[in-house]
Amino acid sequence: MKSLYQSTISSLPLLGHGKVRDNYAVGDDKILIVTTDRLSAFDVVMNEPIPGKGMVLNQMSDFWFEKLGHIVPNHLTGVAPESVVAPEEVDQVKGRAVVAKRLKPILVEAVVRGYIIGSGWKDYQATGSVCGIELPKGLRQADKLPEPLFTPAAKADLGEHDENISFAEMEQRIGAELAAKMRDISIQLYKTAAEYAATRGIIIADTKFEFGLDENGVMHLMDEVLTADSSRFWPADSYAPDMSPPSFDKQFVRDYLETLTEWKKTPPAPPLPQDVIEKTQAKYFEAIERLTGDKLKA
Ligand SMILES: Nc1ncnc2c1ncn2[C@@H]1O[C@H](COP(=O)(O)OP(=O)(O)OP(=O)(O)O)[C@@H](O)[C@H]1O
Ligand SMILES: [Mg+2]
Repeated sequence: MKSLYQSTISSLPLLGHGKVRDNYAVGDDKILIVTTDRLSAFDVVMNEPIPGKGMVLNQMSDFWFEKLGHIVPNHLTGVAPESVVAPEEVDQVKGRAVVAKRLKPILVEAVVRGYIIGSGWKDYQATGSVCGIELPKGLRQADKLPEPLFTPAAKADLGEHDENISFAEMEQRIGAELAAKMRDISIQLYKTAAEYAATRGIIIADTKFEFGLDENGVMHLMDEVLTADSSRFWPADSYAPDMSPPSFDKQFVRDYLETLTEWKKTPPAPPLPQDVIEKTQAKYFEAIERLTGDKLKA
């Protein structure tokens, strides 16, 4: 499988390289988002591509945009990425790019947690609550929460970690009306997606949505949606509370990096062994197949 670590599209103005996606301007109202095969772990971008990962993520987002389109408008335009680049650049966008409406990003990320894991679990152990929301006593790691929790985070600048904020803080930053709308839509998106995923034997433990406003101030779902990078997917058949369940994402990479006690989780990234790359690639491919019932369309 051909991999793409960084795109080099010179027929369009480059807006910037994110950790995983490269954005280009298409006119003044659209953007081309190319999902590369870069992988970030602990917010540090690894030096090696995971071949095909970008295609998997792009296809996952497309799948969910379609499934959730009745809940909220999204950034897709339907314009074919192949049609906005030069002929010799088509290979770089095929299967891994979208042409999206260029929106004004809302600088608060919408995190929804259905299960208590990761930073939420750490928070709960220390305080009995998650991001200031008090929870019942006696929860175990990876337990299902009584109701999905909305825990907003302030979008960090490049190289910084996102920072959890309270709902009151979110209201202050973006206004009470928009905050409530984002919260209610995010929970509805999560519940709808989790219900579908359950029929495919997948638990969506938590996820992060991003929204933006169009020129009329209408809120749109943007960025990536319910991918293995923005969410924790657990195979339902090996789920059990009281442990950290295996997941369909970069867990192999994280576990490997945790063994490198010398590495302080800051750039530069250490080299990844070939078997870690291959196992991670296999997980992403398994995830798309489990979720959609289709193999990756490459
Ligand atoms: N329709 C859109 N209009 C404007 N900006 C968008 C749109 N969709 C996505 N973006 C932005 O494009 C960027 C995508 O890049 P990427 O996800 O690789 O970077 P990142 O956000 O730095 O990394 P991470 O996802 O780990 O936080 C994000 O900043 C995202 O907010
Ligand atoms: Mg991102």
